[in-house]
Amino acid sequence: MGETPTETGDIQDRELTPRQRVEEGQYERSLRPRRLGEYIGQDRVKASLGIFIEAAKARAEPLDHVLLHGPPGLGKTTLASIIATEMGVSLRITSGPAVERQGDLVSILTNLKPNDVLFIDEIHRLNRVVEEVLYSAMEDFAVDIILGKGPAARTMRINLPRFTLVGATTRLALLTGPLRDRFGSQLRLDFYALEAMEEIVVRSADVLQVPISDEGALAVARRSRGTPRVANRLLKRVRDYVEVRGQGIITPELAADALTMLEIDELGLDDIDRRILHVIVDKFGGGPVGIDTLAAAISEETDTLMDVYEPYLIQLGFLQRTPRGRTATRGAYQHLGLQPPMIEPAQHLLFEQP
Ligand code: ADE
Repeated sequence: MGETPTETGDIQDRELTPRQRVEEGQYERSLRPRRLGEYIGQDRVKASLGIFIEAAKARAEPLDHVLLHGPPGLGKTTLASIIATEMGVSLRITSGPAVERQGDLVSILTNLKPNDVLFIDEIHRLNRVVEEVLYSAMEDFAVDIILGKGPAARTMRINLPRFTLVGATTRLALLTGPLRDRFGSQLRLDFYALEAMEEIVVRSADVLQVPISDEGALAVARRSRGTPRVANRLLKRVRDYVEVRGQGIITPELAADALTMLEIDELGLDDIDRRILHVIVDKFGGGPVGIDTLAAAISEETDTLMDVYEPYLIQLGFLQRTPRGRTATRGAYQHLGLQPPMIEPAQHLLFEQP
């Protein structure tokens, strides 16, 4: 890979503005970065991957299996694709719920070419029987299949090409120990810092060929919940608005107008986020309220609430997990324009719950 990590490092060391950094980067025209050097943010993950990839390539071996975890929309699939590109191999993409039977997985594995990358999204949703096939595949690059039934049953070992499994999950805690232990590296993706988000918005605007001022990019970045997928979605909606109402360039005022129209507030919260906080405050006296009760009250799946909405509300410090359920913080009351209670709700219960 040679050029990429150093190139990124050099650009960052010179403290350029987000726009200058994009212009210096000579990016290909795709919203998703294709190379590690194009990938903005997640510096810790990028640095680790850069080293692992370079070492594996020098040894002419496949990269050791990688587990990526963190909230949705932060770039897990993009990184899997970048790993394959940097290693110069093909990428095969599937997901936990899509692989229903052992045979499905065996067929995917036997069709891989040497050193290929297999990406399994939502790997925590693989069923146990399929997961067991993965153990020997990951460790020994072989699978044992059972032929026949009853006393006549025999096992047959099928050797596989050496490959790299990239697993992705939004819920690390749901992964079984044996599966987790088989990944050579486990990398956590965090919400992006504002400056990285700004740079991503500038880059995406450049790819989409929509003019945007630096302040306009900052306005979109601020409302993107530290999540590139959200930034790219908002950018497209703001582009629509500006093409119809504006003079073709995204200014902070137009970005704010467009996003207010979409009911996205200055912290990036949408009507569902606000409904979650309102329900806790208005219906449950600020909490604690159990996650299933909360999900039912806002008519969302518990998993969606836990994976998509909670992490950002927790990161903002608006929501807390306690042993007895979720509580709204003083910050949440203030953000909703409400008077916080005199005593923080369930102050004595504020311990982290898995
Ligand atoms: N587009 C989406 N995510 C990105 C990232 N991390 N870097 C650059 N462009 C992106």
